[in-house]
Amino acid sequence: MKFNVATDYKTVSGEIILVGLFEKTRSLCGAAAVWDSALNGMIHRLISRGEVTGILNQTVPVVTDRHPGLRVLLVGLGKQEDVTLDRLRGACAAGARAVRERNGDRIGLPVDFIEHPAFPLPEKIRAYVEGVRLGLYRFRQFKTCHHDNSGHDPDVCTIYVGDLRHRLAVHTEVAKASSIADAVCLARDLVNMPANAATPSYLAAQARTLAKRWGLRCTVITPRGARQLGMNAFLSVARGSDEPPRFIVLEYRPRTMCRHRPIVLIGKAVTFDSGGISLKPSQDMDEMKTDMAGGAAVLATVQASAALKLPLHIVGIIPAAENLPSGHALKPGDVVTTMAGITVEIITTDAEGRLMLADALTYAQRYKPAALIDIATLTGGCIVALGNHATGLMGTDRALLHKIQQSADATGERVWELPLWQEYGELLKSDVADIKNAAGRPAGAITAGCFLKQFAGTTPWAHLDIAGTAWTKKALPYIPKGATGIGVRLLTHVLEHWDNK
Ligand code: BES
Ligand code: MN
Ligand code: ZN
Repeated sequence: MKFNVATDYKTVSGEIILVGLFEKTRSLCGAAAVWDSALNGMIHRLISRGEVTGILNQTVPVVTDRHPGLRVLLVGLGKQEDVTLDRLRGACAAGARAVRERNGDRIGLPVDFIEHPAFPLPEKIRAYVEGVRLGLYRFRQFKTCHHDNSGHDPDVCTIYVGDLRHRLAVHTEVAKASSIADAVCLARDLVNMPANAATPSYLAAQARTLAKRWGLRCTVITPRGARQLGMNAFLSVARGSDEPPRFIVLEYRPRTMCRHRPIVLIGKAVTFDSGGISLKPSQDMDEMKTDMAGGAAVLATVQASAALKLPLHIVGIIPAAENLPSGHALKPGDVVTTMAGITVEIITTDAEGRLMLADALTYAQRYKPAALIDIATLTGGCIVALGNHATGLMGTDRALLHKIQQSADATGERVWELPLWQEYGELLKSDVADIKNAAGRPAGAITAGCFLKQFAGTTPWAHLDIAGTAWTKKALPYIPKGATGIGVRLLTHVLEHWDNK
């Protein structure tokens, strides 16, 4: 979809204009007031007749005989005192989908779609663009028939800026928000893809394609290379599968010299997690194609960083493998030696993500990073703790954790911190090796975090457990059913606001 910026409503032609409406408002404000007078008080009449209430995400078309060419769509914003940027994103998504259902080709979005003193212009524009793009997302790569009566995608969205002086600022924000939305959609596509298509080799090929398109450096370590580096924990996960693992490194550097140490992002990419010999129950096992959502988020965030031309050196590391049982597979009771030299007793082959991340964290040390952030669909325990509404946050560096929390609040990709107290770490003691890879059900998300901590060394490190947030069974306001693309907006926000001391 293409975004335009126009300054004059007179240029309206064939658009369906989205106009936000608060619940139970007596006096209309912003675009609602403007279009009410253009429509001779039609919006007021609809409200007094009770045909429009402004209830959150309700969409109501307004038509009048007097202006047959004019198509306005009212979008409920809910109660004025409850409105947030995240709700605004959802309202724009609802509006855009309603345009699609009416087979509208063009969306018109007045800059004062919502008028609210708490939302500065740039944030508003981002919410508009992200809402429209993310709300219209759908995954149809594997459908051979597109005639499903769900409407065709509008191809243009014009943002109307009342004040000429804001034009440039709006342009800049629209471009940034589009880049970020592109990245989220890339992550969603990769996660929605079935595991027979999105294999470790496919992810590596994708990384190479991104490198070409965005001028990034891409290194793919094959099993041979990984063996030479001593990445036995990473390799052990892939042993049961015929799909060869790939250790992917995708690096972005700004054009101008950057003398700061890099920020390393690590994303778990288990392209399918059957559990291995410790086989998972078959119920919902198809959802385990999403076990590469961390890797997808990292690939997409590196792309967004390049598109935004961030003044930072960013290294994305994506260990990719498939976890299947076979005669070659890793077994419970086996001991593997990690790249760091720490030996790990395998209690369950279903705790595979941490094995791959352990070697990735060790490999990352060669960059002498300023910070390490890993993101992974790591534990069912995190879903037990936080459900589907928050990503688990753990780590060793207060300042880094604080940055992430602030970005979570700003983007609506919420996080909640879990403690990594030493007592939890002690649960990982093994009788035969240095540590074991699982410590039973209690505090599963935390013991996984404690496991990773041992490989992060002294580098400021944070861990995001997205097991509950990477996938949604039901559609959310700006997230259709399926892959959410979680982590991309959060990590990109962290990087955009990074402060190199
Ligand atoms: N990929 C899973 C975690 C997961 C579960 C992600 C549900 C998304 C939805 C991970 O590899 C796993 O199997 N974790 C186990 C570890 C346990 C055996 C120590 C878990 O959390 O149950
Ligand atoms: Mn597993
Ligand atoms: Zn897994």
